[in-house]
Amino acid sequence: MKIGILGCGRMGGKLGVLFAHAGHEVIFSYSRRQAKLDDLTHQAGARASTGTPAEAANGADAILLAVYWSQLEDVLRQAGDLSGKVVLTCCVPLDPSDTQLVIAHMQSGAEALARRIPQAKVVAAFQTVPSEAFFDVFAARGRPERPNVVYCSNDAEARAVAASLIGDVGFDPVDAGPLHVARYIEPFAMLTAQLAYAPGVNPKLTYRFERYG
Ligand SMILES: NC(=O)c1ccc[n+]([C@@H]2O[C@H](COP(=O)([O-])OP(=O)(O)OC[C@H]3O[C@@H](n4cnc5c(N)ncnc54)[C@H](OP(=O)(O)O)[C@@H]3O)[C@@H](O)[C@H]2O)c1
Repeated sequence: MKIGILGCGRMGGKLGVLFAHAGHEVIFSYSRRQAKLDDLTHQAGARASTGTPAEAANGADAILLAVYWSQLEDVLRQAGDLSGKVVLTCCVPLDPSDTQLVIAHMQSGAEALARRIPQAKVVAAFQTVPSEAFFDVFAARGRPERPNVVYCSNDAEARAVAASLIGDVGFDPVDAGPLHVARYIEPFAMLTAQLAYAPGVNPKLTYRFERYG
């Protein structure tokens, strides 16, 4: 798959490197420092390159949107027309202090994004795992019981792409249903962040749901 990364910080940078290591072609974009994009490309290997957000989005089979909520408009404007594209969002709609959800309860950031780019196929994924865990999960991907990542979308193709990419980086994907379930996923992401970043603990936190009987 050809994957465009919009936002190359803790989430986009790490997931982009792992997507490339899993065999995908990756284009990194939307860092303020070209040297950072070049370093990620180096880490990712021969299947990776850098470009503008428009170059990353154009021709991509899937786009990972990994920016702070406050940068959403800017990155979408730079990316251009996303009609028909599968857009995975790991964004949590937080205020500038990074502590409060600015969209919640009756709505979600993923639904707001889908209204903003109505011709795109939006899927919410990866919000619920701290980026610190990604490389360890990838290294342990041969284990029979992998940690979960929940995802949700109204689009069948987007759901299939998300499940495949979640699996490629070492998680066991859990289809949580339609996009409005992001109303519960995004607060759950706040819980996992709360647990991951509690004082004095190791932030490499993952989760796994078990169904008995
Ligand atoms: N970090 C996590 O573990 C985690 C977990 C779950 C969900 N999330 C969500 O994932 C999304 C991305 O989080 P992140 O931790 O990957 O963020 P991050 O490390 O700050 O990365 C954000 C990216 O956006 C880029 N960017 C470009 N212009 C920017 C500007 N004017 N101001 C700020 N950033 C700008 C940054 O550029 P530079 O490279 O120049 O900094 C960076 O590449 C957020 O919505 C967050 O809530 C994060």
